[in-house]
Amino acid sequence: MKTATVMPGLASAVLFAVALPMGASAQELDAGKAVFARNCMVCHQANGQGQDGLAPALTSYPARYAQTDTGRKLLGSIVLYGMVGAIENGGKQYNGNMPGFRTLSDGELADVLNYVAIGLHGSGSAESKPFSADEVKAQRTKAVTPSEVRHQRQDVLKDVGL
Ligand code: HEC
Repeated sequence: MKTATVMPGLASAVLFAVALPMGASAQELDAGKAVFARNCMVCHQANGQGQDGLAPALTSYPARYAQTDTGRKLLGSIVLYGMVGAIENGGKQYNGNMPGFRTLSDGELADVLNYVAIGLHGSGSAESKPFSADEVKAQRTKAVTPSEVRHQRQDVLKDVGL
């Protein structure tokens, strides 16, 4: 990916397409990266590596959530409504309060979820189908509290074996 970004024009588009055979387009991932830089990076850090005591890494769990229906709904809820309370991610404890991002558009939230769940994912899990604005929109009508979101996360963790 790094070499691809420094290559101009078509060549880089082709490289991205090869690297992402069935997933989000390079354009979608670039858009999501920009949304991430503006809204998420302050806590989750560059490349979603996370910061101890502040916010968990996004490099592994979200890609796993994106494999199941309930996991995808969870990701939508997290970005729309936020999440509060004690969690564990990769053996590290967090007890934070993530704000919701309902002010972002469905398209922006779909883009950022694609960046997080597909763009950041390592080699540990299969690539999932991209999020669409409609998929995020469906979650807008299902308002949940940040603490309910954390309970949904517990169920999803069991489903995906984390
Ligand atoms: C103010 C800091 C902050 C910002 C800004 C923030 N987050 Fe978070 N995020 C957190 C914290 C803290 C948690 C864990 C919440 C908890 O402990 O219940 C979290 C959890 C998550 C999780 C769940 C990770 C897991 O292990 O299940 C995802 C996904 C996520 N954030 C994505 C995002 C995205 C995408 C954005 C930007 C649109 C964003 N966050 C912005 C602090 C933040």
